[in-house]
Amino acid sequence: MNNSSPIGIFDSGVGGLSVVSQISNVLPNEDLIYVADSKYSPYGNRSEKEIFIRSEKIINLLIKKYHVKVIVIACNTATAACIKELRDIFSIPIVGMEPAVKPANNLTKTKRVGILATTGTLKSSKFAALLSHYEGDTKFFSQPCQGLVEQIEKGLIDAPDTRAIVNQNLALLESKNIDVIILGCTHFVFIRHLIEDYFNQTIPIIDTGFAVAQQLVRQLEANNLSNIRESLGHFIFCTNDESDQPRKALARLMPDINFQLEIFN
Ligand code: DGL
Repeated sequence: MNNSSPIGIFDSGVGGLSVVSQISNVLPNEDLIYVADSKYSPYGNRSEKEIFIRSEKIINLLIKKYHVKVIVIACNTATAACIKELRDIFSIPIVGMEPAVKPANNLTKTKRVGILATTGTLKSSKFAALLSHYEGDTKFFSQPCQGLVEQIEKGLIDAPDTRAIVNQNLALLESKNIDVIILGCTHFVFIRHLIEDYFNQTIPIIDTGFAVAQQLVRQLEANNLSNIRESLGHFIFCTNDESDQPRKALARLMPDINFQLEIFN
C-alpha cells in the first residue's frame, strides 16, 4: 500500500455513491473502489453486531484484494453501529460519517430541526451522544423513512410511491415547525429534489458528503498518502448482487460516471 493505492469506500448499497460524487470532485486523480453490500441492504433494521460483521468482511476485501490506503464508511448506519470497533481492529485510517447536527443547530431559527435517518442510526448510542451535545434550546425531530432506502436501491428516485414515502415523513416534521432538514442517510441525498419540492425550496437541507470528502483529504495529507499523479482516477463498483439492479441504479444515480463493474461474494 502506498500513495498511488486506491481509496476504499463502502455502504449497504448505492447510497454511498452520493459521497463518491463529492470525493471524486475534490480528489479527481484518486482511484476509487466502491463496495455496495447490496445483498445485505438495507442495514437500517439490522443489529449492530450484524453490521459489524458485514463491515469487517468488506474492509478485509478492500485491504486484501484492492490494497486500499484508506477506508471511507459512506454510511451513517454502519458508522453509528461500529466505527469504534473497526478502528480497534484495523490499523488503516477509517473515515466515517454522522448526521450534520452541529451545522443544523447553527442554522435553525425556530430551534426545531428535522432529521431523516435510518432506524439503526436513530437508535444508536453514538447518535444519542451526538444529540445530547446540542439538545437544549434546540429540539430535534427524527423520521426513519421506512421503505425509502429500498426505493433508492432500485433507482426509483422519481417514482410516485417514493414521493409518497417522502411526503408522508415530511408532513410529520412540518407539523413540528422545523426549519432545517438533516439528511442523516447517504441514500437520501438522491431524493433531495423531492424534499425541495415539498417545502418549495424554502428550507436548508444539509448532508455531510462534502465534509467527509474534506476530512478524507486531511487524512490523506496527514498520512502522506495523497496521489501525486495528474491524470484522472478510475472507479470500480463492486457488488454482491449479480442481478442488473445495482448497475442500473448506479447508471440512474450517476449517469456521467465511467465505471468498471465487479462482483464479490
Ligand atoms: N446509506 C446508509 C446510511 O447512510 C444505510 C441505509 C440502509 O442500508 O439502511 O445510513
